[in-house]
Amino acid sequence: MRTEQPKTIHLKDYREPDYWIDETHLTFELFDDHALVHSRMSIRVNPGEAGDGRPDLVLDGQNLELMSVELDDKRLASGDFQFDENTLSLKPERDTFELAITTRIKPRENTALEGLYQSGSMFCTQCEAEGFRKITYYLDRPDVMSRFTTTVIADKGDYPVLLSNGNPIARGDHDGGRHWVTWEDPFPKPAYLFALVAGDLCLIQDSFTTMSGRTIDLRIYVEPDNREQCGHAMDSLKRSMRWDEEVYGREYDLDIFMIVAVNDFNMGAMENKGLNVFNSSCVLAHPETATDAAFQRVEAVVAHEYFHNWSGNRVTCRDWFQLSLKEGFTVFRDAEFSADMNSATVKRIEDVSFLRANQFAEDAGPMAHPVRPDSFIEISNFYTLTVYEKGAEVVRMLHTLLGPEGFRKGTDLYFDRHDGQAVTCDDFIKALEDANGADFTQFKRWYSQAGTPRLNAEGRWDAATGTFSLLFRQSCPPTPGQSEKLPFVIPVRMALLDGEGNEMPLRLAGEDGERGSETVLSITEAEQLFTFTDLSEEPLPSLLRGFSAPVKLIYPYHRDDRVFLAKNDPDGFNRWEAAQSLAVDVLQGLVEIHVAGRPLMMDQRLIDVYRTVLGDDSLDPAMVAEIIRLPSEAYLVELAEQADIDAIHIVRDWVRHTLAVTLEEQLWSIYRRLDERIPYSAEAVQFARRSLKNTVLGYLMLTESQDALSACVRQFVEANNMTDRQAALVALVNSPFDDQKRAALTEFAERWKDYPLVMDQWFSIQASAAQPGGLERVQELMEHPAFTLRNPNKVRSLIGAFASQNLINFHRSDGEGYRFLADQILLLDGTNPQIASRLMTPLSRWRKYDPARQNLMKRELSRIMGKPELSPDVFEVVSKSLA
Ligand code: PHE
Ligand code: ZN
Repeated sequence: MRTEQPKTIHLKDYREPDYWIDETHLTFELFDDHALVHSRMSIRVNPGEAGDGRPDLVLDGQNLELMSVELDDKRLASGDFQFDENTLSLKPERDTFELAITTRIKPRENTALEGLYQSGSMFCTQCEAEGFRKITYYLDRPDVMSRFTTTVIADKGDYPVLLSNGNPIARGDHDGGRHWVTWEDPFPKPAYLFALVAGDLCLIQDSFTTMSGRTIDLRIYVEPDNREQCGHAMDSLKRSMRWDEEVYGREYDLDIFMIVAVNDFNMGAMENKGLNVFNSSCVLAHPETATDAAFQRVEAVVAHEYFHNWSGNRVTCRDWFQLSLKEGFTVFRDAEFSADMNSATVKRIEDVSFLRANQFAEDAGPMAHPVRPDSFIEISNFYTLTVYEKGAEVVRMLHTLLGPEGFRKGTDLYFDRHDGQAVTCDDFIKALEDANGADFTQFKRWYSQAGTPRLNAEGRWDAATGTFSLLFRQSCPPTPGQSEKLPFVIPVRMALLDGEGNEMPLRLAGEDGERGSETVLSITEAEQLFTFTDLSEEPLPSLLRGFSAPVKLIYPYHRDDRVFLAKNDPDGFNRWEAAQSLAVDVLQGLVEIHVAGRPLMMDQRLIDVYRTVLGDDSLDPAMVAEIIRLPSEAYLVELAEQADIDAIHIVRDWVRHTLAVTLEEQLWSIYRRLDERIPYSAEAVQFARRSLKNTVLGYLMLTESQDALSACVRQFVEANNMTDRQAALVALVNSPFDDQKRAALTEFAERWKDYPLVMDQWFSIQASAAQPGGLERVQELMEHPAFTLRNPNKVRSLIGAFASQNLINFHRSDGEGYRFLADQILLLDGTNPQIASRLMTPLSRWRKYDPARQNLMKRELSRIMGKPELSPDVFEVVSKSLA
């Protein structure tokens, strides 16, 4: 057991810092086995906070070897300051002063990948959220903004490229083969946006002319082997820059913008000012090595990080409780960008499916927290789906309520008013209110209340008066620390459909004039009634179009209504939603039947919908692919009160097989039509065709016919791109054709063994395969030469994929899956606590399962809890899970 419990930090305790740091001058001397960091800071007391007498200056620091401290150029004796494991304090004698500190650090031993570390042969930094304190003593908090200059000194042969934030202003050579570069960043920034990179990197260069006519030097730095894989990222960057000018009026501000790809990275990417550092999985994309999904991820992440230059860097967060201020807003911005680049409806479907399967589960679990959390032990644990994805949904609702023009007026005011400041979610809302004369007092509950609201709706048709009334009732389940919730503001985009599927004119009782054929109802009360008048026939409501609020909508549709909507709703998103909810209803019904030991029988209406959709040539093929994809096991688990994972798996598999066999002929004709040999391009029309073709191939392989096998093997061998090749491999791996499966896996690994990102896919495909023996396969793969626990991408693609995508194997009833995961968490906790903590998620959800599994999962949680010296990261998740 740990001796002292890590401290909880509360939003309500926020106060301004005692001191400001106006200037920060850094010099890094990089050596093979250590680095020396010299800092010189211009510090000034914060008059607002200094009461009587000058407060102590207390700097943050972690794992640092302190070499020297100088105050106003006088070296301090060890009695002139105090330091412990996490702080360095001293008593300044004046209101403004210069403090110079030298620390010694060991980047090579830094396996947590936070602070300054080595990835392969390069040095790089990761400072968000609190990594800068692992570099030098500092006021490591986002409201302390400083102008930085950085000099990097290193061996010229090993590290020809030396980068930091801003513009390079001087360079030179030293004796002994060393050289140096000085960078200056004119924009004040918090330390979390600091970055440094040193390595032997090759440069891909382009330029962008901004709306005011300035030319920006665009640079992507990668290891020389990856030179050919940067085109898509560069192209995405230029499109992002243009889009932010057009849609938000935001222009880039430095003369140079750099992206560096690193192989060892805890997250996707990082928006350091002028020097974005990326996980190589979010930069590199080539048709032969990356799938369409990877291409779209690169585009989205490049855009996300670029957009942070305004939503995050120019205007930053006052404290880490406000994280969603930058992340929710920026995710919304990147989602809208991707929607504009590709199919908007398909992008929305993907995001909503992801949110409902994953963020809803977070909201229902022991780590549930509001978009703006009230407290945390370890901030790294709060880079969550709630802060990012639900945070983006909250911004989307504001966009819906204000309309695009009103929203733009609001963001213009926000950027204008707060440029150069560190602010709060309240400041963001205030700007939107002030620009529009709106009042979002009640709306702000979305920031403070956790949990997924339930919205029950009922319709009543009155033929005599031609009126249709919709009664809404909202509620929200309790979450840790919040037993009672007040009503939310829930925007419901909706229409009423007539018997032909046409939208009917909307007139609301008590309102003058018409609302057109689609409207947004704003639900603000626990219970609220809307009455539509002057209707010629009984309508069928199409509700929550585009998923206009992150709620669980419950409307008592008959299955026939869902069939009608799936075939006829003019709104593409809700067509998908109707098919999806029909499938959910069918699957849930079959789970009950299976559990009762009765034989399964297929509802023909689901087949009918799929057949219609497959035959509808007017539909975007990507939409067809989405509609015929059954809801995921994870989503079915989330929806269940207590999930019977065996039943869910068996039933879902059975339905997939039944659909495949029944629709075989139609599936073949689609496959043949789309199986064309054309040169690859990364654009929406081709994404759509490949998406449908490969979804269809997956179904065809379930028929286990020789024809399907031959087509699949042929596609695997002849594909001219990774999307098609990988889809064939997935289908083979999940098939009973053991010989072909083994041959394909071997050939694939042989061909791509030198491409870590492709091998990640190879691991993840096998880790996710549902066949029995999944755990043993994963254990064996951990011995593979390409696997290492030190690389987060590898951990995610093997262990992470197993525990989160392979539910049937992970939840095997003897608890060995749980034990395996706990073992890996315990190992990783000693080297990389952030990654260890993220792996906790599946175990933390133990309340979802049957009592036997609950006990087995709790046993592993207790075992983890008992480890001496547990990191605060894992401690927070495990203790909250067991609470
Ligand atoms: N701020 C990064 C982003 O969302 C994510 C990140 C957080 C990366 C913490 C590294 C560490 O774009
Ligand atoms: Zn972000």
